[in-house]
Amino acid sequence: HWTMEEFIGKEISRIREICGLKGRVIGAVSGGVDSTVAAKLMHEAIGDRFHAIMVDNGVLRLNEAAQVHKMLSEDLGVKLTVVDASEEFLGKLKDVEDPEQKRKIIGNTFIHVFEREATRIEKEAEEEELKGAEKKGRVEWLLQGTLYPDVIESISFKGPSATIKTHHNVGGLLKDMKLKLIEPLRELFKDEVRALGRLLGIPAHLVQRHPFPGPGLAIRILGPVTLEQVQILQKADDIYISEIRKAGLYDEISQAFAVLLPVKAVGVMGDKRTYEQVIALRAVQSEDFMTADWYCFPTDVLRRISSRITNEVAGVNRITYDISSKPPATVEWL
Ligand code: XMP
Repeated sequence: HWTMEEFIGKEISRIREICGLKGRVIGAVSGGVDSTVAAKLMHEAIGDRFHAIMVDNGVLRLNEAAQVHKMLSEDLGVKLTVVDASEEFLGKLKDVEDPEQKRKIIGNTFIHVFEREATRIEKEAEEEELKGAEKKGRVEWLLQGTLYPDVIESISFKGPSATIKTHHNVGGLLKDMKLKLIEPLRELFKDEVRALGRLLGIPAHLVQRHPFPGPGLAIRILGPVTLEQVQILQKADDIYISEIRKAGLYDEISQAFAVLLPVKAVGVMGDKRTYEQVIALRAVQSEDFMTADWYCFPTDVLRRISSRITNEVAGVNRITYDISSKPPATVEWL
């Protein structure tokens, strides 16, 4: 039996041994628990020889890229580049409605942007070393936040929804790069990663965060993904999640999010008729996301969320609450 403190010490020495005295490591971060913990551990082990890359794909939550930058770079000291590739992603998603097509486009574009950025980092480092900076060598390793359940799943087992949806997420897509893999979390379960995160000084609200899918808001906007639709959903989602936090319910819900339905419903504002879109709210409780129950909110919380979204988010005049469980529904709508 081992303690988490022992694990940190052991893992840091292991990383140092693997990486030796030269060579750089890059890794994609998403703002999620796994990639943040892996990045912080890497930073503890080899400092600036680790370089984190966050790709802003234009379908992140409100202010997500800026918040990840503040936390990872300013608070945790990790060397980080945030790449704003939102126009590139939204350009490729234009007119696409099919959910699997959205996933594929986002996955492929992600790989493309990440590789381009890795090459740029490598070039920049070479130039700096030519100008006399300390020699840290080439990019040789790729950090992956793979957990033990991912290892098991890729060997033997695929859950039902993994075969229904191609669950693309950050990192898993990059395995084919010509880099050696470092997977410091590959022996850990999610709870252990959270405990590790706390010990490494990662803020509690991040460590307890609900999962967020790699394809982001693109699979929560039914129909075509446009900048306008993304902005509507970002605002609605932000209100929803912050009201859940204010009510103290965040930790008893496994995952909560808003979905934008591109149908038009009639409403009234002042003495005028409106004809606007609908937001569906989803919240589930689940052990492993293979099955899930819809969450039963106190009515006053729903009332507040509904009134805030319809008052504050232009383009939305109606809110519905999703009361489907998985199965037969899935957690996400797409
Ligand atoms: P479903 O909708 O399959 O969701 O019941 C189960 C869990 O998986 C997440 N999910 C994804 N995660 N890429 C991801 O990284 C995806 O394409 C994807 N699709 C679904 C979903 O948010 C839930 O936690």
